[in-house]
Amino acid sequence: TTKKIAVLVGSLRKESFTRRVANSLIAVAPDGFELTIVELRDLPLYNEDDETATPPPAFTVFREAIQSADGILFCTPEYNRSVPGSLKNAIDVGSRPYGKAAFADKPCAVVSVSPGALGGFGANHHLRQMLPFLNMPTMPAPEAYIGGVASKYEGDRLVDDSARAFFEKFMAAFGAWVTQHAR
Ligand code: FNR
Repeated sequence: TTKKIAVLVGSLRKESFTRRVANSLIAVAPDGFELTIVELRDLPLYNEDDETATPPPAFTVFREAIQSADGILFCTPEYNRSVPGSLKNAIDVGSRPYGKAAFADKPCAVVSVSPGALGGFGANHHLRQMLPFLNMPTMPAPEAYIGGVASKYEGDRLVDDSARAFFEKFMAAFGAWVTQHAR
């Protein structure tokens, strides 16, 4: 049966490089995987006071999208050497209520993206720090630090063949990781 992957993109802007990379990864996903970007822009800021019998509808929609996935692909830009607040907020929303985290046990992988040379290393590793707390089996390698991203695209089109080859290798490994760890 087809395995579902929820793709989280930690940039809200229309021309996002991170979203372009996410779409390139989706395009080379192995057979048997269905990848869908779960949008973060409508999530209110997490507030524990909202954790009532009727939480904000956007929380419920997001949690169900995560819960129904077999795996999670995090694609993040780097803001101030960490993850953007939008992505941190989404992780916080999906981590609660306590004991019922939608993210719990979902196999995942991390891709960081930057126009700069360091490829979002700081964001990648701040994100990785959160994942054991959610008991998410996180693919150790290949690591994905996509630096110099602006030169890899002409508009939405990926024009860097070595990047494409890496994306294929990465997604093949991630498919195997999800198959191995899905429950
Ligand atoms: C940035 N940018 C950035 N880049 C980087 O490599 N390391 C960093 O720490 C930061 N910090 C940072 C903070 C804030 C608030 C912004 C808005 C930007 C630049 C960032 O990599 C660039 O804007 C990317 O294009 C953002 O990713 P998307 O939106 O193209 O996916």
